[in-house]
Amino acid sequence: MPRSPMIARTVPALRRAIDSLRLRKATIALVPTMGALHDGHVSLVRAAKRRATRVIVSIFVNPTQFAPTEDFGSYPRTWKADVAKLAAENVDMIWHPAVEAVYPQGFATRIVPEGPAVVGLEDRFRPHFFGGVATVVGKLFTQCRPDIAIFGEKDFQQLRVVMQMARDLDLGVKVIGSPTVRERDGLAMSSRNVYLSAEERQVAPTLYRTMKECARRIRAGEDTEAAMAGGAEIIRAAGFTLDYFEVRNAETLGPIASTKDGPLRILVAAKLGNTRLIDNIAV
Ligand code: PAF
Repeated sequence: MPRSPMIARTVPALRRAIDSLRLRKATIALVPTMGALHDGHVSLVRAAKRRATRVIVSIFVNPTQFAPTEDFGSYPRTWKADVAKLAAENVDMIWHPAVEAVYPQGFATRIVPEGPAVVGLEDRFRPHFFGGVATVVGKLFTQCRPDIAIFGEKDFQQLRVVMQMARDLDLGVKVIGSPTVRERDGLAMSSRNVYLSAEERQVAPTLYRTMKECARRIRAGEDTEAAMAGGAEIIRAAGFTLDYFEVRNAETLGPIASTKDGPLRILVAAKLGNTRLIDNIAV
């Protein structure tokens, strides 16, 4: 019988609960989420459980990482189903603050990440995004004071930005990336997949198929530029509007001069109708 996780909604309540876990010598893992939980999130929770004695999942749709033109208002919110999923995974605590608890009246401080946050990938198309993510994740880390935090590799640039920030600011949190979970046809699981129409859903796995084929061609020694140009063509022909389709160094996310500048990662962002999808794989 799953036990309902404790739900904290204010910073003092969260602090009291964490202090009591610490007294009992718990090691704490944090899984930051915006809710609308799917099997990808469940795999993050399971990775957290393997590494720590207590797991906190935060559910907070963070307004500062959305531009005014983006989907903050319509972002899927599925609170009851989320709590049931986390109860089934025996999560210990859900940190679910109100917007005013995270950004009280007069809030005036922002973390401005550089390095992997300014490499011309997501940052080129969503310039507000990493400032919002770094600020909220910085706050989640200082609020929950976890030993480790688990992030999905699906948001690969976000993972690198958070790793860099935790290191640069001595936050004392070990940031761990966890592999992307995919549907049977290869589509990366994402809370935004619910926006896809039935026809778009059929086309969406093209991104993963094409990345895999390009990675295979690059590994086989084919010309990288030609392989990637061919891949971009296939993605566009399937009906996507491409934001980027690039091979980068997997550590710095900087551009590469040759395949010797590895480890390599292919990263893609593209719009299908009104839905923007991102994905990436190792070469
Ligand atoms: O990846 C997400 O769901 C969000 O960007 C995060 C890390 C929870 C910060 O709001």
